[in-house]
Amino acid sequence: MTSSTTRPSRTASRRVAAVAAVALAGLLAVPAASSAAPERAAAPAALAAPDIPLAGVKAHLTQFQSIANANGGNRAHGRTGYRASLDYVKAKLDAAGYTTTIQQFTSSGSTGYNLVADWPGGDPDQVLMAGAHLDSVTSGAGINDNGSGSAAVLETALAVSRAQLQPTKHLRFAWWGAEELGLVGSKYYVANLPATERAKISGYINLDMVGSPNPGYFVYDDDPAIEKVFKDWYTGIGVPTEIETEGDGRSDHAAFKNVGIPVGGLFTGASRTKTAAQATKWGGTAGQAFDRCYHSSCDTTANINDTALDRNSDALAHAVWTLGTGDPLPPGEVYETTTDVAIPDNGAAVTSSLTVSGRTGNAPAGLRVGVDIKHTWRGDLVVDLLAPDGTAYRLKNSSSSDSADNVIATYTVDASSETANGTWRLRVQDVAAQDTGYIDSWKLTF
Ligand code: TRP
Ligand code: ZN
Ligand code: CA
Repeated sequence: MTSSTTRPSRTASRRVAAVAAVALAGLLAVPAASSAAPERAAAPAALAAPDIPLAGVKAHLTQFQSIANANGGNRAHGRTGYRASLDYVKAKLDAAGYTTTIQQFTSSGSTGYNLVADWPGGDPDQVLMAGAHLDSVTSGAGINDNGSGSAAVLETALAVSRAQLQPTKHLRFAWWGAEELGLVGSKYYVANLPATERAKISGYINLDMVGSPNPGYFVYDDDPAIEKVFKDWYTGIGVPTEIETEGDGRSDHAAFKNVGIPVGGLFTGASRTKTAAQATKWGGTAGQAFDRCYHSSCDTTANINDTALDRNSDALAHAVWTLGTGDPLPPGEVYETTTDVAIPDNGAAVTSSLTVSGRTGNAPAGLRVGVDIKHTWRGDLVVDLLAPDGTAYRLKNSSSSDSADNVIATYTVDASSETANGTWRLRVQDVAAQDTGYIDSWKLTF
């Protein structure tokens, strides 16, 4: 009997008192044997971000300038100044407790490098990323483009370490190579991410040029949640923003966006001219470029507006703290079964049932299916969600090369054409001999 193992409960337990959860269970007429225990401990509200010290961000810019000065005046792809910049950032992150990875690629006959830094902990299935390109053009030191974004991301990562932050999401920071040659490093990273890893990235935030000397305050108009976090932060300090329009897809968020990963970012303007209306609301000089030194030799430490750099660094930290801590899932009601179902080796499909009742209308477009299957070779398994009317949604295919254990994952299904109430089933088939396992538990979050 499935209902005895079905436990509706609130994920948003911090917003719903325990008393209310019991009352809810009563409404749904759950047998007393399966009292409505919270599905997991109450998640904390998002934590408040620290102020990012402008002096810290500027110290990184000073280092980038020194590196350029010592390496022929630039930090460009394939030049010694690029690798020196990467080594500088990596050393800071390693000392702060990050797990760093250098990813190599080739572009225009030279070796390029991405640097990826993972902060240990957080939900490995929900990765929040922030990144910036670290290369300059050959004509200058590239301090606004894009020492500024690189330094803001670095100082935010170091602030995570200083706070010894324990985020709910897994945090990953990245510095891309060869952006100036056509977004090469970030494209390479995304193209070489296995689909399973891609699916875990819940958002990517890009910073490219965030200290322009005649700044505008532009927010990427992409993922609504990321955009809102930035806009709300700027509203809070009383600074108006505009939507970024100076060339959509002209930076490292493009590769992420192209594979459906939610993206956002900040920008203070490149070669476009500040209008009179923009000068009225932001100050600065109308009729002049946001960055007159864009891609030229005068993009030095003198080519930075401190206020813009400070604001965007703080805004990034705010976004990382807001999106990375607290409840990683929006409020939802959880239906779960913990009845084990054995999966016969190389045999017929088995199903595990879950009864959903007391809801109105259809299931959500973002129905979350949490699956916990213990198995000694997950590549053997084909997994589907079956709606009450029998419609199958493929969650996972078999793969002879997928040699890891277990399927412990959350899949999102567009179930908006399905009636919510009824008996949902998880169907699992083992299609290859030898390795075996069982469905340990699974759940639906509405
Ligand atoms: N990516 C460009 C560069 O590095 C700068 C740029 C132009 C840009 N338009 C943009 C960055 C819009 C972000 C958004 O040279
Ligand atoms: Zn740039
Ligand atoms: Ca098997």
